[in-house]
Amino acid sequence: MDQRKSFYITTPIYYPSNKLHIGNSYTTVAADAIARFKRALGYDVHFLTGTDEHGQKIQRQADRAGKPPREFVDEIVSWIKELWRLLDIEYDDFIRTTEGRHKEKVAEIFKRFYEQGDIYKGHYEGWYCTPCESYWQERELQGGACPDCGRPVELVKEECYFFRMSRYAPRLLEYIETHPEFIQPVSRKNEMVNNFLRPGLQDLSVSRTSFGWGIPVPFDPEHVIYVWLDALSNYITALNYGEADSLMERYWPADLHLIGKDILRFHTIYWPIFLMALDLPLPRTVFGHGWLLLEGGKMSKSKGNVIDPRVLVERYGSDAVRYFLLREIPFGVDGTFSLEALVNRINTDLANDFGNLVSRTLTMVERYFEGLLPTPAEGGPGDEELSKMALQTPLLMEEAMDKLKISNALAALWRLVSRSNKYIDENLPWELACSPDRSGRLQTVIYNLVESIRFVAVMVGPFMPRTPARIWEQLGIGHRGELHTWDSLGSWGRLEPGTRVARGEDLFPRRNLPEELAWNRPKLEMEATGSAAVPPPGEAAAPGLITLEQLRRVDLRVARIIEAAKVPGTDRLLEVKVDLGQEGQRRVVAGLAQHYRPDQLTGLQVLFVANLQPVKLRGILSEGMLLAAVDGKERLALTTVDQPVTPGCKIS
Ligand code: ME8
Ligand code: MG
Repeated sequence: MDQRKSFYITTPIYYPSNKLHIGNSYTTVAADAIARFKRALGYDVHFLTGTDEHGQKIQRQADRAGKPPREFVDEIVSWIKELWRLLDIEYDDFIRTTEGRHKEKVAEIFKRFYEQGDIYKGHYEGWYCTPCESYWQERELQGGACPDCGRPVELVKEECYFFRMSRYAPRLLEYIETHPEFIQPVSRKNEMVNNFLRPGLQDLSVSRTSFGWGIPVPFDPEHVIYVWLDALSNYITALNYGEADSLMERYWPADLHLIGKDILRFHTIYWPIFLMALDLPLPRTVFGHGWLLLEGGKMSKSKGNVIDPRVLVERYGSDAVRYFLLREIPFGVDGTFSLEALVNRINTDLANDFGNLVSRTLTMVERYFEGLLPTPAEGGPGDEELSKMALQTPLLMEEAMDKLKISNALAALWRLVSRSNKYIDENLPWELACSPDRSGRLQTVIYNLVESIRFVAVMVGPFMPRTPARIWEQLGIGHRGELHTWDSLGSWGRLEPGTRVARGEDLFPRRNLPEELAWNRPKLEMEATGSAAVPPPGEAAAPGLITLEQLRRVDLRVARIIEAAKVPGTDRLLEVKVDLGQEGQRRVVAGLAQHYRPDQLTGLQVLFVANLQPVKLRGILSEGMLLAAVDGKERLALTTVDQPVTPGCKIS
């Protein structure tokens, strides 16, 4: 049994609905830095990431790509794993919800909920946001759209199983109130409590029947398990929950679920309630970080306004990209990605401050001491302050990282870098080198600088994992593993005089900002799979025009007319029933009676607006609109497709 203290950290499992962008990379890079930091401190770390592969959203994307869902996700998952490799993400486990180890356990969990009376069968009627895979009640919608993402919602009416959320709500509320570290940052706690818990929790629909891409309910296979119940369970199925050799004892409860603020509700309300129903302790902290924004809007896979992390890594190296993400934005709040900010960080923090410290120092060892590390001989200004600061920095960083103030931790480290640079300016080693009687002092100054570089290199490792090895090489201590550890920062002066150093290539070459800006956009932006690039949402269209983004908000489909009938008491109106395939059936009331006989309509495939706010006409709820060409006053022609297509398919 491992006696070390354990640390279990997770990222969201991402939807492989599209390639990931720098926003998703942000969470994973942060989780990796935290995991590496804890490993450096000696924790028994378990770092889990993965992919959330079931549900309507994935099924639709696969349909659009004309591939079976499994084949569709397999390709994206390999792409994601390659991205994590490029970004040096050192996860301990990668879970896919399509794996047997996960599916079996989720089915068992569902069965257990049912058997203990947490789940009952019923009927759901309400709204659904497919991009978020979330249910909404009419009154929660904003302008008829999803209040979380602003995209169109769809009406869902189907038989389903419900989970009795209400049963656990008081316990959860009490838990949240008595565990201030549970929801972080604290500002987000109030939002969850006031907006969702206090008004009273609705029972949650936890199965779907209108499509098939999911884990079947074991005792009622017409139903697939709701994708969020499926997905959240990954945090324990990956530990082999319920197996004899499970890792639960070693790692559960999780120390940190790191997520974006978009999915806080699922992690701080549904997930803890599922855990309570399983009689399991709750995670110590759920941290919802802020958005990485792009010119005023949130980056999102489905919007297509995304920055390709691979292109950035290829051009600037993963360490620089990681440093930028972790340093630029205080962890927790929103921040903006811009190439200009990235290049400035590279030039200022990395090239000027850190890179220069290393190259200046090693150049001096080569010039004044033939490349051999000198023995310290004579004390002087700044010595004490430098070594004291070096010894204190690990503690400051630990403190900041405990609070997940990643950017502050790096700021503390860079204060040591700056202090070291200042030490050079205070001591003017090139002047010391001119007077033979100051050689003792010169030896000390150079020794201290090299030791300080060693300290910085150890501490920068969790954030920029490639840099330390390059520095060990230059410091001539590549084989001296004991000098690379966090523990080795407990005392000053461990480097051995006489060690041969060798200044290498510049660690972080300076970039020319205008050149970088000229190079940038087209290459940086990812091709949005299957569609043209979309202007950032903040970007307005010229007067009289709409943006592609605005056009996309109209959910246009092909509807097959099942039957039509005159609405009694009117001359103009027909009640038309249409088939939208996986979207189910809809009824609309249309002003067609003077143009078509009901029986002429049956079987037609017509363009259809699927996300129109429903209205009641003559007592009938009309949910959508059939599109027709209106030719003068007399003629009207329904717009059809020129060959048969799958009912419900998208028009784009
Ligand atoms: O929500 N800025 O998956 P997802 C910062 N499958 N972080 C961002 C971001 C941005 N612009 N865009 C995305 C899902 N993220 C579910 C999760 S967990 C049991 C299931 C990050 O692919 C952020 O961490 O939509 C956010 O929570 C996550 O990606 C959403 O990824
Ligand atoms: Mg999302």
